[in-house]
Amino acid sequence: MKHLLKIMDLSTEEITEILNLADQLKYEQKHGIKHHHLEGKTLGMIFQKSSTRTRVSFEVGMYQLGGSALFLSARDLQIGRGEPVEDTARVLSRYLDGIMIRTFAQQEVDDLAKYGSIPIINGLTDYAHPCQVLADLMTVREYKGKLEGLKMCYIGDGNNMANSLIVGAIKMGMEVGISTPKAYQPAADVVEFAKQNGKFTLTEDVFEAAKDADVIFTDVWASMGQEGEAAERRKLFEGVYQINSKLLAVAKKDVMVQHCLPAHREEEITAEVFEAHQNEIYDEAENRLHAQKAVMVKLMANK
Ligand code: CP
Ligand code: NVA
Repeated sequence: MKHLLKIMDLSTEEITEILNLADQLKYEQKHGIKHHHLEGKTLGMIFQKSSTRTRVSFEVGMYQLGGSALFLSARDLQIGRGEPVEDTARVLSRYLDGIMIRTFAQQEVDDLAKYGSIPIINGLTDYAHPCQVLADLMTVREYKGKLEGLKMCYIGDGNNMANSLIVGAIKMGMEVGISTPKAYQPAADVVEFAKQNGKFTLTEDVFEAAKDADVIFTDVWASMGQEGEAAERRKLFEGVYQINSKLLAVAKKDVMVQHCLPAHREEEITAEVFEAHQNEIYDEAENRLHAQKAVMVKLMANK
């Protein structure tokens, strides 16, 4: 494993290793056991989009591992004025030990990896959100004690979260039920992968997708960069693609609810369901820190 560009690149064993290390690092952090696996290392964090969790958890994670992190807003970098990714990648590789990037096109992340000589971590693109999904799998495993054989359901837009969740869940042996409007389905390559490799349902019927689910995920109807489509999307999603008590009634009795956050109450999730499941949701947010520390140790620590 040289980079974390998308979940598709990881094997089941690699995902399991990351989750195991994340559990260990979480335990150690809670018990005051410090490891400076990344002493003297620097992570550059390039942001083309806003962030609360990703930025803070990566920066704190680097600090806890004995290294440091640099916040690099694309607005201030020359990349924001058109400097080619290949030059940015090769120059930053001379200063840094790793780069985390949040941007629009997956191609930009892939190009950083292609032209640079240091590990690249995808902190969200329009196509994928692998760091989030590692934290999600960690949280489900924490609550349920396993992943294999469980049913994961996702309701809403077939976006970066849906793409990464589908691949991650299928790789970990979970059954997957997805419900999106027809015009907003997950990426075609992801759907094909899921059909070939696991038990997978893609439907417009939210109840069919959620039936007997062990965990139900959702995400915003309009992602960052799609603000102009929000009104049009709302018309299609409103009142249907929502986690509410009626939907939970068809899932397993002990169903978990997960949301990568930020959440829009009364849109993709009701305030009632959010509050009833807030512990699981905030554990999920916390686990970003532990899962990403595991990823950084795997990619950046001296072998
Ligand atoms: N879930 C997530 O990635 O949150 P941020 O946008 O706050 O980083
Ligand atoms: N799908 C959302 C996730 C935010 C963490 C977005 O891309 O804006």
